[in-house]
Amino acid sequence: MPDQPWWKSAVIYQIYPRSFADSGSGDSPVPAVGDLKGIRRHLDHLSWLGVDAIWLSPFYRSPMADFGYDVSDHCDVDPVFGSLADFDLLVAEAHDRGLRVLIDWVANHTSDRHPWFLDARSSPQSAHRPWYIWRDPAPDGGPPNNWRAAFGTDVAAWTLDPGSGQYYLHLFLPDQPDLNWSHPPMVEAMHQVLHFWLDRGVDGFRADAVHAIGKDPALADDPEETAGQPRSSTNDDPATHPLLRGVRALLDSYDGERVMVGEVYLLDTARVAPYYGHDDELHLAFNFAPLFAPWEAGAWRFAIEEVQRHLLDAGAWPTWVLGNHDISRPVTRYGSEARARAASVLLLGLPGTPFLYAGDELGLEDAVVAPEAVVDPGGRDGCRAPIPWDASESHGWGEAPWLPWPPRADRRNVATLRNDQDSILHLYRRLLAARRSSPALSLGRLELAEAPPGVLAWLRTADDDRRMVAVNFTGSSQVLKLTAGDWRVEVASDGAGEHARWDGRLAPDQALVLRPD
Ligand code: GLC
Repeated sequence: MPDQPWWKSAVIYQIYPRSFADSGSGDSPVPAVGDLKGIRRHLDHLSWLGVDAIWLSPFYRSPMADFGYDVSDHCDVDPVFGSLADFDLLVAEAHDRGLRVLIDWVANHTSDRHPWFLDARSSPQSAHRPWYIWRDPAPDGGPPNNWRAAFGTDVAAWTLDPGSGQYYLHLFLPDQPDLNWSHPPMVEAMHQVLHFWLDRGVDGFRADAVHAIGKDPALADDPEETAGQPRSSTNDDPATHPLLRGVRALLDSYDGERVMVGEVYLLDTARVAPYYGHDDELHLAFNFAPLFAPWEAGAWRFAIEEVQRHLLDAGAWPTWVLGNHDISRPVTRYGSEARARAASVLLLGLPGTPFLYAGDELGLEDAVVAPEAVVDPGGRDGCRAPIPWDASESHGWGEAPWLPWPPRADRRNVATLRNDQDSILHLYRRLLAARRSSPALSLGRLELAEAPPGVLAWLRTADDDRRMVAVNFTGSSQVLKLTAGDWRVEVASDGAGEHARWDGRLAPDQALVLRPD
């Protein structure tokens, strides 16, 4: 197989810094939030697990209205997370271990406290006014169009600025005004942000809501079919593509195969595909349609076929995601750890770059957050619960953290699961090792095999290397007749029968990686 860029065979581990680990040092608030030093302390654990890269959700200066996705200084670390020196040390120590580092680039909006917006708001004549999107009210005095914001129900994507009598656009919170990407000086400033971090040695970016940066210049009303849906989940304007080409050219001017993975939150693979351009836009794009697929063979078969058709067949390298900081954890969503284990085989057995959300390898469930303790305006606290590092009462955190522990943290914690060979954590480790040692599993092509209802099976092939992956979505045992030779169990989601010759059966909720005997 010809040489491929590192990010095609990599497994990327998402860290949500507030919830990962608290070093207890520095400007640490009470209740505690995680910090960069805390991440650094656990790099050995990530090497042990076997991931190739980490992606850090935002750690920039921020008023934290959206917990860091409202950036007020793109080029500094918020004091709750540490300092630029901590960041440099984290990158250096990650690189020492062969771990690459991706960071979030929040491209669509800033905080309303960003100096750019403060200036923009100060007067319609200010230098930064055109850096954001302002419009006069509609004739009835209401918002300029019918676009809805994310979070909350039926909230307009426009907020009136009483000072000037104009509205500004925000696809997310009013505290997150949208940047105007049709204004070249602003584009240049956001490019400078990329240079700042690339020069500091980052290996790439996860671009937040990047499908939304180009806007219809006419800002036309959403049509009836999508009116009422958040515009951030439908915005799909041609203006975005040349902007992404500019960003891609910037990244490609650096050595080291820097990568841009974009959050393209359009829940339709066919609509995600164009964001790869002709290999001149995003290197990788999140494809969230499978993330929202139910635990059902037919739904996943469709998701895989869509990826084959719209991405792989078109030469675009897919991504796979089971969880992130915006959605319920797999155990909670699919209803059991057995299914979440089988899903880990899907995540690591399909062609594409997998993203593993910190804590999913521990089989964490969403935390139960009492109504009075809710902090996120988007209702996403449950999946952001802190990572329990050990079985002690404080689970390895100095002070009580900002969100409640996920259920059963006395057992579902790193130390306890590391000591248990049968745990989901060890399953992830075995799957990652199997992937690393098999070109077929990491880079090979996919061919769906005949399988009974409720089961999906596929062959992965790269040159002479072959692996078979089979997933039983049902709660009953299944028999799979494979034609392509005899197989040995390499990894089983429940650990059963590993290394033994495979007998053609799949236990309830079981998924397998098979290697030729
Ligand atoms: C993305 C992030 C989400 C954030 C939103 C606004 O969807 O993943 O957490 O709230 O963008 O920045």
